[in-house]
Amino acid sequence: MEFTLVKQNSEKLDQARKYVKDNMMKVINQPHRNNYHVMPEVGWLNDPNGFSVYKDEYHLFYQYYPYATHWGPMHWGHVKSKDLIKWEYLPVALAPDQKYDANGCFSGSAIQVDDKHILMYTGHVDPKMSFTGTSASDAGEVRQVQCLAVGDGINYHKLVHNPIISTEMIPANSSLSDFRDPKIWEKNGMYYCVVGCRDSDESGKIAMYQSANLVDWAFVGILDHSQHQLGRMWECPDVFELDQRDVLIMSPQELHDEDFRHKNGYSTVFFVGKLDYETGKFDKVSFDEIDYGLDFYAPQTTLAPDGRRIMIAWMQSWDRNIPSDQYGWAGSMTLPRELKVINNLLYQIPVKEIENYRQNEISYKDIPVSKSIQLDGINGRCLELEMTVDFTQANQFSLKLMKNKACETVISFDKESSILKFDRSHSQSGINQADPKDMREVPVLLKDSQLKLRIFIDTYSVEIFAQDGQYTMTSTVYSDLDAKEIEFAAEGEAIVSVSKWELQI
Ligand code: FRU
Repeated sequence: MEFTLVKQNSEKLDQARKYVKDNMMKVINQPHRNNYHVMPEVGWLNDPNGFSVYKDEYHLFYQYYPYATHWGPMHWGHVKSKDLIKWEYLPVALAPDQKYDANGCFSGSAIQVDDKHILMYTGHVDPKMSFTGTSASDAGEVRQVQCLAVGDGINYHKLVHNPIISTEMIPANSSLSDFRDPKIWEKNGMYYCVVGCRDSDESGKIAMYQSANLVDWAFVGILDHSQHQLGRMWECPDVFELDQRDVLIMSPQELHDEDFRHKNGYSTVFFVGKLDYETGKFDKVSFDEIDYGLDFYAPQTTLAPDGRRIMIAWMQSWDRNIPSDQYGWAGSMTLPRELKVINNLLYQIPVKEIENYRQNEISYKDIPVSKSIQLDGINGRCLELEMTVDFTQANQFSLKLMKNKACETVISFDKESSILKFDRSHSQSGINQADPKDMREVPVLLKDSQLKLRIFIDTYSVEIFAQDGQYTMTSTVYSDLDAKEIEFAAEGEAIVSVSKWELQI
């Protein structure tokens, strides 16, 4: 496929690349970096973008503002990897340098077509926004359109035809200023994309488009519409086939919580069902929140060469301070997770490649735990824990992590209420957060009286995968780096088997 590309040099891109080069050393050598989670070289990172396989390597882009540790006019940062764990930084890929994306290259996706790497993103224009990143947010004047850039894995050029989905092509009864985050895919020689929208009734919906040549797009239909049930705007949609089902994931904004769900204000949900490619309708048979932690947003997936569907998300929630900003960076990605649909539910399993980085295994089998105990060698700050807790004789079990005299982060399970809880309220994290109060809960079913957990700890995060990935809880924890102890306790007698590996990347 041939495209006509914008040829001119981009001062904004050159400036961003130079800034990163000149300033990354401030961040690169400090102990406060993540060990195995993607983070910015310097500055601010939000959503994963363009997660794709190009010429046999994984590429991941991200919403990026290099110049500060807060959100600003969005660029696309770029990393690549052969195994989803060890990532290499590449130069900034996109900068807001055209009339149609003057105030930001917002979220989007990527695919390989022939030998080209195609990026599809949202051009954001806000006439009231200065380049310091402050927005006067006069919704009437913001415009969002969909654009393409074509590249070779390092350098990307925008199309002269941009925007390829313009304001005139926004579905009827939709906001012109909330129309973003295209996710592109190919099926039977046709290209499709889904885009997040806000209906004029002030609730979220998702539009689907199709194209034979990537440049001319036609509206197909509305996949689904919140009808005031699930948030004001549906951001970052993604659609894929998995285990004989279609799956839609997306991130609804401004959503009311219910029971244990949607406590972060901005949530992420999955729908399992069937997509009708003729009408664009998504017929859902089930849905739920994707992750029950405090920091998980804007997930995006890609198809691995071996057929696995892999998801990665921004390990952060909006509207919170990010204490690592004092070290020159803010925001990271989750561990990539393999997805599976089982009984119409979405399961998440850490990608198997992480197991190649396990070192120095220490294991204990069938340890009776009642009062608080520590186990020799089970401690640390960059590790994986795999454990099984048998509740036959126990009512309650707790695991304290990232612990020292001053702080601790607690994972606990109560058999009577069947609630798995993650609590960072005593982690001395420095997160100023009104709601939820540094704590989240999820109802979890024991299997044969057992709770299975895999827990990944990195410098400032804890990811919990319970019951083989049926439930996940992902959160940042900015405790002191010397908080390394791990303690087990139970009411009654829990029988615990545990393995610990250091993760060395
Ligand atoms: C989601 C989001 C997207 C948007 C991007 C801007 O976190 O709000 O909808 O494209 O962030 O950075």
